[in-house]
Amino acid sequence: MDKPRSAMHTWNASSQSSQAAARSEERRRVPWRSKKTPLMPFISVKYLQVVFKGTDQGGGVRKTHFHPPLHRQYVRTDIKHKSGAEGLQRGGGPVSRHRSVFIDEGVLDLNYVPPRLLHRDAELRFLNGLFRFVIEAPYEMSQRAVIFGGVGSGKTALAQRFGLNLKEEAGRRRVKAEYIHVNCRESRGSLFIVLQRVMRRLRPQFPDRGFSANELLDTLMRILDEDDLHLVLCLDEVDALIEKEGSDAIYNLSRVQEERLEGPRRLSLILIAKEPEAFKGLDRSTLSTLQRNVVRMPEYTVPQLADIVISRAEAAYRAGAISPGIVDFIGELAASENGDARYAIDLLWRAGKYADTAYSREVLPEHVRKAAASLFPALRPEEIRQLSRHEQFALLGIARHFRHSPEPHATTGEAETSYQVVCEEYGEKARGHTQFWKYLNRLKGTGAISTVLRASKKGRTQLISLPKVPAEDLERELIRIVDQG
Ligand SMILES: Nc1ncnc2c1ncn2[C@@H]1O[C@H](COP(=O)(O)OP(=O)(O)O)[C@@H](O)[C@H]1O
Ligand SMILES: [Mg+2]
Repeated sequence: MDKPRSAMHTWNASSQSSQAAARSEERRRVPWRSKKTPLMPFISVKYLQVVFKGTDQGGGVRKTHFHPPLHRQYVRTDIKHKSGAEGLQRGGGPVSRHRSVFIDEGVLDLNYVPPRLLHRDAELRFLNGLFRFVIEAPYEMSQRAVIFGGVGSGKTALAQRFGLNLKEEAGRRRVKAEYIHVNCRESRGSLFIVLQRVMRRLRPQFPDRGFSANELLDTLMRILDEDDLHLVLCLDEVDALIEKEGSDAIYNLSRVQEERLEGPRRLSLILIAKEPEAFKGLDRSTLSTLQRNVVRMPEYTVPQLADIVISRAEAAYRAGAISPGIVDFIGELAASENGDARYAIDLLWRAGKYADTAYSREVLPEHVRKAAASLFPALRPEEIRQLSRHEQFALLGIARHFRHSPEPHATTGEAETSYQVVCEEYGEKARGHTQFWKYLNRLKGTGAISTVLRASKKGRTQLISLPKVPAEDLERELIRIVDQG
């Protein structure tokens, strides 16, 4: 419990000293920025107009402060301050010469794998132990493991960190081992697409078409033989794969290895899902082999989240641009979202973007609040983008329905009618009832909607609700994404 505090103070002290060092370094390198040197030659005509008129009518620049450094302190009035997530884009800086609060925004990218995972030592050790044979005796066995945990509990980061470490160790010891991480939801739950992505990693020129999933699987094993390689394949969000392909996909992946009684072992699996329920569609024997090696990821606590946020902030932010108080605030907000580290890091990034948009030199509580208001933890814009177009239509229909409905629940029939109206609006043919059910299942799988079964006179009906997402915000976000195509 003490650890985050002390870590935070150390960090703060070093931030301040490095900030001072950065300032003096800047003065040394850029002498014309000293107060005595006139700024005139470096000021644009636009800026002069602003200074002399006081305000600018149409052009969009308004001066706010007369304190040095003069040339940085203005705000563009033609950029509306966005209250939602719109307008925030990864990469790129603010429009003026304002110095961004970030030094390396990439560290806050969703796909960034931190060099060190905090508070997951035991889990990483467990995985290392299970797969030690890959380094020591790669051809003698194959392994399967499962990682369970809520959103933002670090499942993906754990698996990827494990994979990178494994590859490094294999490289050092000259063992031929490979780790490939594939997200099944991004692969639309299709074993074929999953395997195609794997093939591309091993053989970048591998053709797109002409193979069935089973042929791809056989080809994969052949390539592993050819390369004399042991592959640890991680199937992230494997529930999407099971949802779409049933038991078969996992069964087939296990089978290819088990059928080779002779010869070296080539393929090990790591499966990632939110909860064990994802596996309930599997047959018993596949299930029992999976249940042996399970890593459960507990929710992060407030101090743990603060540690994670601090270490990421140190790498992403300019020294002094974010204070320990703000880091704590972000940790608290994320803890109230079930210890979701992804939410914490998203907040950390968005808060910085709002600080930049406001031309602030540091992140203020208001920027964090704005960031929090623009994020609905139950569903992220990135996740909406991963839905198919018709799944987006279905969700848009549901959002519209709830925006006008006084009831907290909708029937499947109501949702389907709204979906048909949306399709009509976008000039596309609505898909049939069976397909619509599949969309609902997928939306449920991503956490975009919740469903409950209610007994009624007609039998059991499924009722739909929107968890924690204001229908209006969801609608706005969806329209934006659908319009972008
Ligand atoms: N223990 C940790 N140390 C450092 N960063 C972490 C840790 N756990 C999660 N993160 C970061 O939090 C974000 C969400 O983690 P992720 O692994 O994507 O969660 P999940 O896959 O369980 O939803 C990622 O940016 C990840 O790098
Ligand atoms: Mg994940």
